[in-house]
Amino acid sequence: MERTSVGASTTVTTPLVCLTGVRKAFPLPDGPPLVAVNDVSLSIDAGTAIALTGPSGSGKSTLLHLIGAIERSDGGSIDVGGQEVTGLSGRALAAYRRRVGFVFQRFHLLPTLTALDNVMAPLIPFRTDFDKAARARELLAMVGLADRAAALPSRLSGGQQQRVAIARALINQPALLLADEPTGNLDSQTGTAIVDLLLRLRDEQGTTLVMATHDNGIAARCDRALQMRDGRLTSLDS
Ligand SMILES: Nc1ncnc2c1ncn2[C@@H]1O[C@H](COP(=O)(O)OP(=O)(O)OP(=O)(O)O)[C@@H](O)[C@H]1O
Ligand SMILES: [Mg+2]
Repeated sequence: MERTSVGASTTVTTPLVCLTGVRKAFPLPDGPPLVAVNDVSLSIDAGTAIALTGPSGSGKSTLLHLIGAIERSDGGSIDVGGQEVTGLSGRALAAYRRRVGFVFQRFHLLPTLTALDNVMAPLIPFRTDFDKAARARELLAMVGLADRAAALPSRLSGGQQQRVAIARALINQPALLLADEPTGNLDSQTGTAIVDLLLRLRDEQGTTLVMATHDNGIAARCDRALQMRDGRLTSLDS
């Protein structure tokens, strides 16, 4: 985290993510559109871990999709690292998506690829300024799966699959990692190990984490917990 001391008691942190008045509505077949994210403004400092909590349907996944430019907002501004994300298209959009890591509840590994090939999958084929397999192996080692590089996902436990998915999310060295209920399909012990791993990335690499979770214990381990309800942020704890 970049911190600049400007006085005895004041510390300035650099925001990595700045949302202003962000809105997303989904058209419904009958009736008015469903407003999934409603006028959300927030600022996330670089190198911090943020939990996004709130009941089912409150807009957590939609907000993560907007920040990761998986979905397009209907209004407002999303600034990530000084880049306006709304309105990106074509190659700029593809390049932005590659710079953000995304981890899903259901892992979303490609079933016919080995763990190693899954980790390498997001790399652009023609980029050859580093050894792709070596970097993927390093990441697998970092998540404790050095010896399972050749395994297909079907041969891995849920926790191991999620660790492969985290390694895949890190292959392009993202400053921002978005995780949508990354422990939602795991038992609590395995889930704790996954959160340990995510928080280690914050501590050791300064990765900024935004993690949707229903688990208050996980939220308490983050630097800040934000709560959503009916598409709005209802609490800012700091
Ligand atoms: N593609 C879509 N089309 C229509 N409505 C959608 C779509 N995606 C989400 N919604 C609606 O937007 C609202 C917010 O959904 P979202 O998935 O963001 O909630 P969530 O907080 O992630 O819930 P959960 O905790 O169950 O994952 C819900 O009412 C949902 O039904
Ligand atoms: Mg969700």
